[in-house]
Amino acid sequence: MPLHSLLDLELSVPDPDALVGFWTGLGMVHTDAGILGTADRPSQLRVAEGSYRHVSELRLGCSDESDLVAIRDSLNALGVPSTLTDGALRCVDPLGDHEVVVEVADVPPLTTPEAREANRPGRITRANSRSSGATGSQPAPPRRVGHVVFGTPDVAASAVFYGDGLGFKLSDSLEGGFARFFRCSTDHHNLLLMPAPVPCMNHYAVEMDDVDAIGLAGMRVVAERPEASVYGVGRHVLGANLFWYLLDPQGGMFELFADMDQITDDDQWEAEELRTDWDPFTIASWEPGHAKPDFFLPADIDDLAKAREAAGR
Ligand SMILES: [Fe+2]
Repeated sequence: MPLHSLLDLELSVPDPDALVGFWTGLGMVHTDAGILGTADRPSQLRVAEGSYRHVSELRLGCSDESDLVAIRDSLNALGVPSTLTDGALRCVDPLGDHEVVVEVADVPPLTTPEAREANRPGRITRANSRSSGATGSQPAPPRRVGHVVFGTPDVAASAVFYGDGLGFKLSDSLEGGFARFFRCSTDHHNLLLMPAPVPCMNHYAVEMDDVDAIGLAGMRVVAERPEASVYGVGRHVLGANLFWYLLDPQGGMFELFADMDQITDDDQWEAEELRTDWDPFTIASWEPGHAKPDFFLPADIDDLAKAREAAGR
C-alpha cells in the first residue's frame, strides 16, 4: 500500500483560539501559529479560521515519489483531478469539503509509555505499592491524531475515492456498506465513512496511552462542561478501541481512544461485514449508557448545512 500514515488534519472553525486553548489545556503542544502537536509528532491538528466547523485538509504520508505517481494515476482513472508538484499530490474529496494532500514522509514510531503493572486474578505483579492509575491526577497528554470520520451523502462513492483512488484499505464494514472502516497505516481504521445528508465531520480521534489517560482527560473536560460527554467510556467492536466521545468547545465531536486493533500483515486480516441488527452490540462490546443522537449526526447539522451553502459549497 503506498500510503503509510495519517499525518495530520486541518480543522476550520469560527473561533480557532478557543480550540487551540482547549487542546493545549489537555496537554497538546502549540508548536506554531494554529499548529497543535504532541511530544512525538509536531503537527497533528492545524486549526484555521472558517465560517463553519469542518475538516479543511487531510494530510497523508507515503514512502516515495513513485507512490505519488501511482496514486495520481489511480485518481486519473476515476476522473478525479489532482496536481503533483514539489513532492506533494493534492486533490479535493469530490464529496467532501476538504483537500487531500499526500506527501513523502518519514514517521518515526511513538515512544512507548511506561508500563503500568496490573494485578489480575491469580497473578500479583504490583505488590505493596499503589497503582499510578489511582494516584495520578494530571491526565497524560494526547499521543497523536489517529483517525477521522466523515459523514457523506454517498458512502459507496466516497469509498471508491478513498479506496480505489487514494489506496486506503478496507478493514471492516457494517451491513450493506452502511459504514466502512478504512486504514492507511497499521491502525484498524484511520478513516470511517458513514451516511449524512451533507458532507460533515462526525469526529476526529486522539490516541491516549490507556483507559486511565482517557478517563482523566475526559473528566477534566466534563468538569468544565458536563454536557460535553456524548458516548462512553466503552470498547468498540470494530477496531476494539476503548473510547470516550466528547464535544470540543467549537461543537466538534472528538474521541479519546486507546488499544486499537493493529493490522501489521494484510494477509492475516479478513475484512468482515457486521450485521447491523446486532444492535446495540454492533457499536460497542460494552459501555454504560446509550449514545446521544449526535453520536451519529452532529446536533447542529442543519446550521452546518446552511453555513456550507452560504460559503458556496
Ligand atoms: Fe472513532
